[in-house]
Amino acid sequence: MPSKVSCLYVLTVVCWASALWYLSISRPSSSYVGQQLALPARKAAKSKSNFTFSNIRTRPLNPHAFDFVINEPKKCDADGPFLVILISTTHKEFDARQAIRETWGDESTFADIRIVTLFLLGRNTDAVLNQMVEQESQIFHDIVVEDFVDSYHNLTLKTLMGMRWVATFCPKAKYVMKTDSDIFVNMDNLVYKLLKPTTKPRRRYFTGYVINGGPIRDMRSKWYMSRDLYPDSKYPPFCSGTGYVFSADVAELIYKTSLHTRLLHLEDVYVGLCLRKLGIHPFQNSGFNHWKMAYSLCRYRRVITVHQISPEEMHRIWNDMSSKKHLRC
Ligand SMILES: *[C@@H]1O[C@H](CO)[C@@H](O)[C@H](O)[C@H]1NC(C)=O
Ligand SMILES: *[C@@H]1O[C@H](CO)[C@@H](O)[C@H](O)[C@H]1NC(C)=O
Repeated sequence: MPSKVSCLYVLTVVCWASALWYLSISRPSSSYVGQQLALPARKAAKSKSNFTFSNIRTRPLNPHAFDFVINEPKKCDADGPFLVILISTTHKEFDARQAIRETWGDESTFADIRIVTLFLLGRNTDAVLNQMVEQESQIFHDIVVEDFVDSYHNLTLKTLMGMRWVATFCPKAKYVMKTDSDIFVNMDNLVYKLLKPTTKPRRRYFTGYVINGGPIRDMRSKWYMSRDLYPDSKYPPFCSGTGYVFSADVAELIYKTSLHTRLLHLEDVYVGLCLRKLGIHPFQNSGFNHWKMAYSLCRYRRVITVHQISPEEMHRIWNDMSSKKHLRC
């Protein structure tokens, strides 16, 4: 009998721990709870300490034990906005945040449709940058910060913070978009063509640019994924992190699922793993462009997102599109 299996039959805390480690760590893509339930339950009853079967099963694998250090808990009113836009950003991107506030992220763009725009950040290792962001937050009240270290490798934590925020402080919102600070969003298309405020809000809905891919094993790649962290050769379908949209109920579902899902640093892949566990299939929408696209009025009128837009371009595009609303394509 293999040692890991025989171990399961020895009633010590150490073995329970190592058995769990084996089940959760070596099979990151399978259902955590399902694996646990496969264990014989009678063993737990005999366990002497409080480290029992049921305790183990509910103990989060990824507890997300962070506190909000900057928060906007009252930003959503009782019936919730139509759309919450969560923008992943870094401390130094003051210009990008300001450009977004003044263009597509302007909460007052639509007279009759309530939009909430929030920038997501972690804690910087530079105290001056933290202070500057704090001041910016006191002026605009559109920044949320949790006390994890802000870094590229922690982007998943940033997204999960956003999901947690919606679930906790804005549970009545209808839809949520997660995007980045170098994205141009065509709000008219997003709101009226895709989400349609006059129709019944969808549930368990998720859309964006769907990627069916697998892990990149080249260590030089920005998207490198080690075999230890993710042994499978395929990812579940996931939406490019440059912009995805979902019904607000999904925020809580993803956040809660993440507590029992081993963290991966690629946030969009990770959200895809949570969606697979939840049985939610992301819809492909080719309006979400996760690449750069040269500006032309007619082309940008057809998209929902465009990637790699500088703050200056954002202003230029916004001004051009706003001033030419009467023009036909
Ligand atoms: C075990 O849990 C029970 C009930 O939750 C508690 O009263 C008891 O103090 C715990 N024992 C230990 C050793 O932690
Ligand atoms: C991510 O955040 C955690 C919690 O603050 C921190 O311990 C860890 O070092 C960070 N990881 C990276 C790669 O910055």
